[in-house]
Amino acid sequence: MNIVILAAGQGKRMRSALPKVLHPLAGKPMLAHAIASAAAITGQHQAIVVLGHGGDAIREYLEKSAISAKTVVQKEQKGTGHAVLQAADLLVDSEPTLILYGDVPLIQTKTLERLCQLAGEGALGLLTQIMPNPSGYGRIVRNLDGGVQSIVEEKDANPEIKAITEINTGLMAVPTAQLKRWLKALEPNNAQGEYYLTDIISLAVNEGVPVHTTAPDASWETVGVNSREQLAELERTWQLELAKRLLDAGVTLMDPARIDIRGQLVCGQDVKIDVGCIFEGQVTLADGVSVGPYCVIRDAVIEAGAVIHAYTHIDQAKVGAKSVIGPYARLRPGTELANEVHIGNFVEVKNSQIASNSKANHLAYIGDATIGSKVNVGAGTITCNYDGVNKFRTVIEDEAFIGSDTQLVAPVTVGKGATLGAGTTLTKDAPAGQLTVTRVKQISLNWQRPVKKSK
Ligand code: UD1
Ligand code: CA
Repeated sequence: MNIVILAAGQGKRMRSALPKVLHPLAGKPMLAHAIASAAAITGQHQAIVVLGHGGDAIREYLEKSAISAKTVVQKEQKGTGHAVLQAADLLVDSEPTLILYGDVPLIQTKTLERLCQLAGEGALGLLTQIMPNPSGYGRIVRNLDGGVQSIVEEKDANPEIKAITEINTGLMAVPTAQLKRWLKALEPNNAQGEYYLTDIISLAVNEGVPVHTTAPDASWETVGVNSREQLAELERTWQLELAKRLLDAGVTLMDPARIDIRGQLVCGQDVKIDVGCIFEGQVTLADGVSVGPYCVIRDAVIEAGAVIHAYTHIDQAKVGAKSVIGPYARLRPGTELANEVHIGNFVEVKNSQIASNSKANHLAYIGDATIGSKVNVGAGTITCNYDGVNKFRTVIEDEAFIGSDTQLVAPVTVGKGATLGAGTTLTKDAPAGQLTVTRVKQISLNWQRPVKKSK
């Protein structure tokens, strides 16, 4: 299968410096969605993207994200037929050509495969749809036997044709040798003075090439985006679809209309997700995980039975089974928590490993640390890991107790079972099993607090 994706249009109505097809839907540029759907078709060739407006930015994006696609340039936008013609030299004659739009992001592989099958054995496959309000679309004109005869654009249509509710989604699969010939025969004799791809339909019919149609499984698959409003609407449609898939898979969503998945969210059994959560990148929630309201979780693995309380941020981290995180906790990249670890409110953890059953329940910064099991990190504890240039590690061995308001000036090690007194500034290693404390002696003085004069 040859695949051509049209993306030369300007997208004026987006009112943006960013090319339209690079605007993200569910966290990923629209064009990347279309490419991914096509790439999942069995036996497909590398997609050919037709660039025009913003072509350099699009090419740069494809390279940067290592998305495999070829590009060709349509210097002037003379119509959809002219756009496909720019890719003609790269098309392999022995297989049909599937034509997609870069601004129709949600087309699903299953629908595309059905469309491709129609194009087998020299026929043309057309993706059409019944629309109660077909205004703006090309109309599918059929003969008395019901066979497709032609496509007529809205701007070229008489009232009788305008009344047709079957529309051209724009997506089609075409036998390639004929396609090349038909594209060269197109003429811009129409209201817009453009080379219409849709005119190949009547050329096919004249040559006796069968034109078969199929509809998308879901109506949102073929929705095109021309404005930010349409993009926002399609985002909500897609998010609701993703939410329904989670519900079908047995996930509890407190409100399917209030979840955002910008990447892939994999859930085990009996996972519960409260409202307002955002999942980015690759996130796994194992069996029985509960996520409280308004959490942001990105590229993370949360093991079975863990509880993530409200307003927690997790980024590139791993949370062990039955751990309890938050509310208002922040786990930054490189955090690895073992089982039954408790990270409480206003605790930030970065690039640290914390072994099982350890706790940091309140107001702490744990950076570049290796913490053993059954360690208690008191409120206000700070690892001083950075001298402005270099980062140093803090090691806290099993069963240590770190008193409140302690500063651990790394590199430093707290031995097994050691206790640090509250307020300690630890600059040397604390021996195992002992109490270590740095503290100014407490004194009491005879002193009178000033008193306000009464008026
Ligand atoms: C096209 C179809 C119409 C269909 C509609 C579905 C034609 C003549 N008409 O109309 O039958 O109902 O899509 O949305 O094909 N593009 C280029 N180069 C160009 C022109 C367009 O790359 O010179 C790209 C655009 O970026 C866009 C796609 O082709 O991704 C469709 O172009 P657009 O102008 O939106 O087509 P419509 O006039 O809406
Ligand atoms: Ca359009």
